[in-house]
Amino acid sequence: MDLSRLDRSTVPRHVGLILDGNGRWANARGLPRIAGHQAGELALFDVVHGALEIGIEWLSAYTFSTENWNRDPDEVQFLMFFNRDLLLRRRDELHDLGVRIRFAGDLTDPRIPDENKAYMQESEALTAANARMHMVFVFNYGSRWELTEAARRVAAAAVAGDLDPDALDQATFASFFSVPEMPDLDLVIRSSGEHRLSNYLLWQAAYAEFSFPGILWPDFGREALLDSIVEYQRRDRRFGGAIDRPT
Ligand code: IPE
Ligand code: IPE
Ligand code: MG
Repeated sequence: MDLSRLDRSTVPRHVGLILDGNGRWANARGLPRIAGHQAGELALFDVVHGALEIGIEWLSAYTFSTENWNRDPDEVQFLMFFNRDLLLRRRDELHDLGVRIRFAGDLTDPRIPDENKAYMQESEALTAANARMHMVFVFNYGSRWELTEAARRVAAAAVAGDLDPDALDQATFASFFSVPEMPDLDLVIRSSGEHRLSNYLLWQAAYAEFSFPGILWPDFGREALLDSIVEYQRRDRRFGGAIDRPT
């Protein structure tokens, strides 16, 4: 990677990846969709190494959405197996790199195999003291679930007398999210040329910049990550303010 292209002073703190296009990548090669997911793992870990070089603090990756249960049962079953297998094969590498592993999503869902839940908890515990980068696997996640769940928990706290509804502000509400410490997204990258969020971190993306490289996820990698970040660094983030300068 040519890091001289990077402005070190405006590196996005939280980059979210909507890794899309695995199935199309496989189809184009006459392979089953699962071959696309397997190839996508290599792209994801190349991006992890790139993110560490770039100095990103939080990297999140959408690995299974609440809507992905609608896929063919064979593919769903493969994705459950694949996600736990990937964790088992990769968590030591992430640990050695100083990465802290987190999960955002509904992990109480009875459709998630118990083995997955156990590996997830173990991986979080193994890496809990790491601070070089946070890697959030966004798994069995949908923003509408997260927001509804937060509302449900706020209501329960209010009924129990632990929370005064009049004192509820945005920060308190967000403290009921899956990974409360996760900062807002600065940059969302969705591969494959689709231009949508598909229920990904809607609240956290309120002021994110977006990058939509027309690359199928298995062809993505650290160079493509750097391209999106350089593009991001050219953007003018105004957060509702006005700029007054000659055009
Ligand atoms: C993204 O690739 C991976 C997951 C959703 C798990 P897809 O499987 O959505 O690939 P396409 O969009 O069908 O090409
Ligand atoms: C979004 O991709 C979910 C993940 C990347 C895990 P999809 O491929 O499932 O999204 P849609 O169906 O095209 O919106
Ligand atoms: Mg897709």
